[in-house]
Formats: sequence, C-alpha cells, structure tokens
Amino acid sequence: MKTVQLGSSELQVSALGLGAMYFGTRTATETSYQLLDEYVAAGGNFIDTANIYAHWISGFKGGESEILLGEWLRKRGSRTQHIIASKVGFGYPGVEKELSARTIEEECNKSLKRLGIDTIDLYYAHVDDYDTPLEETMAAFDKLVKAGKVRYIGASNYLAWRLEEARGLSQANGWANFCCVQQRHTYLRVKPGGSTAPQVTSNPDLFDYSRRRNFPIVAYSVLLGGAYTQPDRSIPEDYKGADSDARLAILKTIAAETGATINQVVIAWMLHSAYPTIPLIAASSHEQLQENLGALDVKLSADQMQRLDNAH
Ligand SMILES: NC(=O)c1ccc[n+]([C@@H]2O[C@H](COP(=O)([O-])OP(=O)(O)OC[C@H]3O[C@@H](n4cnc5c(N)ncnc54)[C@H](OP(=O)(O)O)[C@@H]3O)[C@@H](O)[C@H]2O)c1
Repeated sequence: MKTVQLGSSELQVSALGLGAMYFGTRTATETSYQLLDEYVAAGGNFIDTANIYAHWISGFKGGESEILLGEWLRKRGSRTQHIIASKVGFGYPGVEKELSARTIEEECNKSLKRLGIDTIDLYYAHVDDYDTPLEETMAAFDKLVKAGKVRYIGASNYLAWRLEEARGLSQANGWANFCCVQQRHTYLRVKPGGSTAPQVTSNPDLFDYSRRRNFPIVAYSVLLGGAYTQPDRSIPEDYKGADSDARLAILKTIAAETGATINQVVIAWMLHSAYPTIPLIAASSHEQLQENLGALDVKLSADQMQRLDNAH
C-alpha cells in the first residue's frame, strides 16, 4: 500500500488507516486479530484506537481496544512496523470529558500501559474542550512529546479556527503542534441545520484549511456504519438533505462505470480529493475489509471526480 507523509510530522502512514474501535468488544478477539493481520498483509501500518473504546458496548468499560492491540503487538512482535494512534478527551467511566493537563497526562500513562508500549506514535485530542484554556492543553501535549511518551500529536473534532489558534500558541511557545485532524467525513454531507454533535463533521472551511496548510484530514465514519449498502440500516436523518438523492445516484453511476462497489467509490473519492485525506476503514468481517481495501485500486478520472464533487 502506498504511504503518505502525515502533514508536518515524519510519520509515513499508509493511504488507508484501520479503525480498531470495536476490536476486543463487539468484534471478538479472533476476528480482530484476523482483520489486523489482513490489513498489515495488505501493507497497512496506521492503526487507530482511543482510551474510551468501546465503553458504550454493554458489559465493557473502555480500554478494551487498546488492551487487544497491546496483546496483538506482543504476540506478533511487530511493534516497530506500525504507527499506533490513540486519543484522550472524551469521558468514560471514572474519567471526565476534558483536556486538562492532569487528564491528558494520566490518560496517556494508562494508554501506554494498556498498549504495552513506550511511545504512542500519534496522540490525539479526541474532542475540543472550550472550558480548559487551550494553552494548558497544548502545554500538556508538548510535555508528553518532550518526555518521549508521544511522538506526534493530532486533533479530532476541532473546528479550523481552533486548529489555527492551537498552531499560534505552539509556534509562540516552541511547543509541539497538531499535525493532522481526525474528523467525521463521508461523501454525503450533513444537511443545513443537521448535527453530528459532539462529533464534528468536515466542512468546506476545513477542506480549505487542510489544502492550504498541508494539514491532513484523517476521515472517520467514512461508510456511515454500513448505511450506504446494508439493507438493514438507512442513511442517518442528518444526512438526508436537498442534495443526498443526487449524491447517492451519482455514487451508483460511478460504481457502474468503474465496476467498483458504492463503498469503494466513497473511499476512492476521498483518496482522489484535492485536500490530503487518509480514510480510516473499519470492518467486522474479512469480506468487508477486502472490499474496503479494494478501493485502493479504483481509479477515478478527472471527469468522474468533478461529477462526484458537484452532484447536488
Ligand atoms: N475521532 C472520533 O471521534 C471517531 C469517531 C468514530 C470513529 N472513529 C474511528 O474511526 C474508525 C471507523 O469508524 P466507524 O466504525 O464509524 O466507520 P464506518 O466506516 O462508518 O463504519 C464501519 C462499519 O460499517 C460496516 N461496514 C464496513 N465495511 C463495510 C462494507 N464493505 N460493506 C458493508 N458494511 C460495511 C460495518 O458494520 P457492521 O460491523 O455492523 O457490519 C463496520 O463495522 C473507528 O474504528 C475509530 O478508530 C473516530
């Protein structure tokens, strides 16, 4: 799999990242290992988790995804071959939703222990915290980088103006700065007045920021949880806007033209976009993973990209 440099960092991440959110909870250990091994066999090296995954699944409390990844890394003896990303900021049992210096330091230590590694390659602020001074948050992340606990930092669920505010603070103080933003991003757009809160969805403002600052968007919920194609689920109401029918129709047309599936067209559209985008693929089966990896082979012409971009 092709790799790309992650913005201003020195990380060479594979074109598709792998979401490990449900590994160790909804997705059983054996299947999780199989999916991780298949992703690595395809050349993938960018694995995404968080301290809270997946506490909302009945019977679990969070940290299970990191623990599973830690055990998998030990069993495979392959730590140095992967770029491991984790996050802090959302609440889970016993931990507040916040980005105070104390929470950042404590949660990083817990994540390192669960993952069984010395350094997290990419550590995200999982969601913006307007109640903690951004200065405190950025100083705390910088402390982790200087201590060698974290190599690079990223933001998730941040608006473009806050990314720029963070950049200003980091520059003025000589601190580490965010090198990418992980945002909710799919082909369909949230309708005017729609919301995905507390998750922040990509928007034209972010696309412009990303392109001009070479600030990659790591895209999550790319396939809307399978809603594009799985008959037992439907497109979320917040995405059913004036343009959604036209956009769903063009997806079908381009899929027919290219011989790709609808899911593959969504992922390929991101890979061809004008702003640097690294889609996180997620799967609960071999078939889903292979289909999603297959998006790497889908070539979209300039004309097809234009029709996809402009459908409304
Ligand atoms: N930063 C954040 O706030 C944030 C938020 C959410 C997620 N994330 C990250 O992003 C990753 C992906 O998120 P997500 O799970 O929401 O992604 P998604 O791509 O929207 O949904 C993945 C789900 O879609 C279905 N699916 C996947 N491939 C399919 C295919 N080829 N055909 C049909 N259905 C398919 C599967 O559902 P079934 O298993 O039900 O079949 C799969 O579990 C997570 O693992 C996590 O690392 C980050």
